[in-house]
Amino acid sequence: MVCLGNICRSPLAEGILSSKGKHLNLKVDSAGTAAYHVGKQPDIRSIDIAKKYDIDLSKQRARQFSRADFDEFDIIYAMDTNNYAHLISLASCETERNKIIMILNKINPNSYQSVPDPYYGGKNGFQEVYNMLDKACEKIIQNIE
Ligand code: 4NP
Repeated sequence: MVCLGNICRSPLAEGILSSKGKHLNLKVDSAGTAAYHVGKQPDIRSIDIAKKYDIDLSKQRARQFSRADFDEFDIIYAMDTNNYAHLISLASCETERNKIIMILNKINPNSYQSVPDPYYGGKNGFQEVYNMLDKACEKIIQNIE
């Protein structure tokens, strides 16, 4: 799960997918394309909205996406079109490019719709992001099952 800072959207996506996929043998992680927040806990507003649904994000720490992730993971979900373009620019071959998927394409195929960046907004933004990611992750799990 990849966003810009790895403190708002992708930590939530990681928490939601891990929670929904508990019964499956999945390796789920998140990262940011930027390094500004490396080592930090998720934004308190992401922690709080996840807690409301019994998902604990407090042990996550931000990290920057690295090229090694193309080998570590089968699928790389981008939260928005900037993240997507950044990841595509880091990919070195078709196999790597094919791993990169816009997460909301899971619910609206080929829409290339972005999960809005809630960082500068209020609490409602985080609820909206949660709802979108919840639907997308539900679809991801259904497809795996
Ligand atoms: P995220 O949100 O990409 O969902 O983690 C952001 C977090 C921090 C910043 C931007 C977006 N920032 O500019 O510091």
